Amino acid sequence: MPLDRVMEPRPASGVPRHFLDLDQFDAAELRGMIEQAKAYKRGEGLDVRPLDGKILAMIFEKPSTRTRVSFESGMKRLGGEVVILNGADMQIDRGETVADTARVLSRYVDCIMIRTFEHSTLQELAEYATVPVINGLTDRTHPCQLMADVMAFEEHRGPVKDRVIAWSGDGNNMAASWIQAAVKFGFQLRIACPEELRPPADVLAWAQAQGGRIEVSSNPQAMVRGADAVVTDTWVSMGDEDTNRHNLLAPFQVDRHLMAAAKPDAVFMHCLPAHRGEEVTAEVIDGPQSIVWDEAENRMHSQMAILSWCLSETP
Ligand code: CP
Ligand code: NVA
Repeated sequence: MPLDRVMEPRPASGVPRHFLDLDQFDAAELRGMIEQAKAYKRGEGLDVRPLDGKILAMIFEKPSTRTRVSFESGMKRLGGEVVILNGADMQIDRGETVADTARVLSRYVDCIMIRTFEHSTLQELAEYATVPVINGLTDRTHPCQLMADVMAFEEHRGPVKDRVIAWSGDGNNMAASWIQAAVKFGFQLRIACPEELRPPADVLAWAQAQGGRIEVSSNPQAMVRGADAVVTDTWVSMGDEDTNRHNLLAPFQVDRHLMAAAKPDAVFMHCLPAHRGEEVTAEVIDGPQSIVWDEAENRMHSQMAILSWCLSETP
C-alpha cells in the first residue's frame, strides 16, 4: 500500500461519540449511562458480550491504579480487549503530534482513553481521532470519576437531585467535575476551599449561567452544615507543585468535627488515592460514613456504561 494511503482519512460514519466532559452532555444521556451502569452492576446484559471484538487503547501520561484496572476489567467483562500505552514509551514523547497519534491509533483500535496533563491534549486527540475518545483525567477534569460517584451516592442515599453535596479542599480537577455534575444532575454543591485554590473561574461562570446551585467559600463548617455528603481529594494532585499547599489546605481537612456539621447520615466521599492525616483523617475515611470503596468499585460499572455508549452505533 502506498504510504500516502495510510494517512487518508477513513470514511467517517458520523462524529465519534466522545466522552470528554459532563458539561457537553444532555442530563438525560448521563442519567441513561448511570442506569446502564446500575444494570451492569446487577450483572444484566453481560452474557451477550456487547463489545465482543472491540479494542480499547489506553494512554497514560500519569500514574493510575483504579482507572487502568477498572477500564481493563470492564472492557473484558463486556467481551472486548485493551492495549495499554505508557505515554513515556510512545513517539508522542519524542515529538510526534497528538493529531498524528490520534489518526494512527484510530486505524488500529475502536476507542481511545487518555489520562494526560493539559486538557488541550485530550481535545486535540478527540478532534483528530475517528474513534471515540474518553477523558481518563486531565489537569482540568475527571468526569469518569463523577459518574461512579453519583452512582455510589445514590446507592446509599437515594436520588442525588436537590441534595446538598459539600466539598472541602483543593478546587482541583475533581472539584471542576463536581461542579459540572451539580448542573447536570441537579444537586446543590457547596465548595469550601482556600481563596488561592478556587476552581477555574470559567467552570464556575458556566455553572452560574446554567442556573447551577454552586456556592464557594473559605469556611468549611459553613459549607458542610446540613450536607448529605462531604467530599474531598488529595491536596497535591498529579503534576502540582507542592509549594504552600499543605499550609493552605490544613483548615479544610475532613475530620470528625467537620463530619459532625453534616447530616447525621451524611456519607464521606473521596476519589482515591487518599492521604490519611492530610485531606482526611483515618477515622473518617475508615469509618462507617465512608463510601469510598463503593466509589472505587463503581468506576468499573460506570465505565462499562460509558464504553457501551461510546461504541454504540447511533450517534
Ligand atoms: N480515582 C482515580 O482516578 O484513581 P487512579 O489515579 O488510581 O486511576
Ligand atoms: N486530583 C487528583 C485525582 C486523582 C484521581 C489528581 O489529579 O491527582
